[in-house]
Amino acid sequence: MDSVEVFKGIRFPGFMHTQESLRTACGFQFQDTDVLLVTFPKSGTTWMQQVLSLILCKGHLWPIHNVPNWERAPWLEQNSFVKLLGNLDPSQPRLLTSHLGAEALGPALLHSKARVVYMARNPKDVLVSFYYFHKLAKFLPDPSSFEDFVAEFLEGTGFFGSWFEHVKGWLGLEPDLNMLFVTYEELHQAPRATLQKLSDFLGYPLGPEEEDFVLEHCSFPFMSQSSVVNYSLVPKEVMDPSQGRFLRKGVMGDWKEHFSPEQNEKFNTVYQAKMGNLGLHLPWTM
Ligand code: A3P
Repeated sequence: MDSVEVFKGIRFPGFMHTQESLRTACGFQFQDTDVLLVTFPKSGTTWMQQVLSLILCKGHLWPIHNVPNWERAPWLEQNSFVKLLGNLDPSQPRLLTSHLGAEALGPALLHSKARVVYMARNPKDVLVSFYYFHKLAKFLPDPSSFEDFVAEFLEGTGFFGSWFEHVKGWLGLEPDLNMLFVTYEELHQAPRATLQKLSDFLGYPLGPEEEDFVLEHCSFPFMSQSSVVNYSLVPKEVMDPSQGRFLRKGVMGDWKEHFSPEQNEKFNTVYQAKMGNLGLHLPWTM
């Protein structure tokens, strides 16, 4: 199950990626009405898929309760994409998802006015979440040790490539795209203000009651119980529930429970070298 597809030097799980599916994503013809969510894995993709679905559904809740997130907001680069794209409701903007880097998707997007929501998360929390996901997801190899996992993350040689290059690549494209940059931490700390920013960006302003409604249905407790977003519909050969839950903790700063002082220092040194002089104001302290 944990076969590998290497594309443009980056490893992807072969279970749901092929050379053809990855090439299809790179050549995708975006429509100006499309909404594309881009994340590095474990940055809150499923959470944002839920928020964006709720904004776009305008109170029509059937999909939120009945359609899995991967069908509501299919991944461009996965081998199920073409089929799932055909099933999307043509009366609404298409909600699409991708973990691909800017160098792969940028050329196709530069020719469109599609809205791009880029969601980032504190990379230390991404790393911890990804570590547990490698145990849960049978299409990824079991991590040998946390120490090795940190080293691989810092080298950028793990699955889906380098977090640093992903964030820098997409931020580099921001001036040329119709793009909104948001963070997991903003959504956590200021959910209503972040929701308003997102709904304004999509051109779907919400009233206060609609906002309450969205916030309730994208909360961690609600999503943890919802089979169409908590991945409990996935066979155990694909995600093994004995190894944990997809909606694991949903908190900020869990890295503090995992990093040794040495690992933290090493991480900070690499972070500073790669991100330090970009002048970014990101809502996390390293
Ligand atoms: P943790 O493993 O730290 O708990 P992705 O969807 O990109 O794979 O990201 C998964 C991470 O987002 C998991 O992080 C998951 O718990 C968290 N997440 C999902 N829904 C969330 C929500 N409603 N509130 C907070 N965090 C959420």
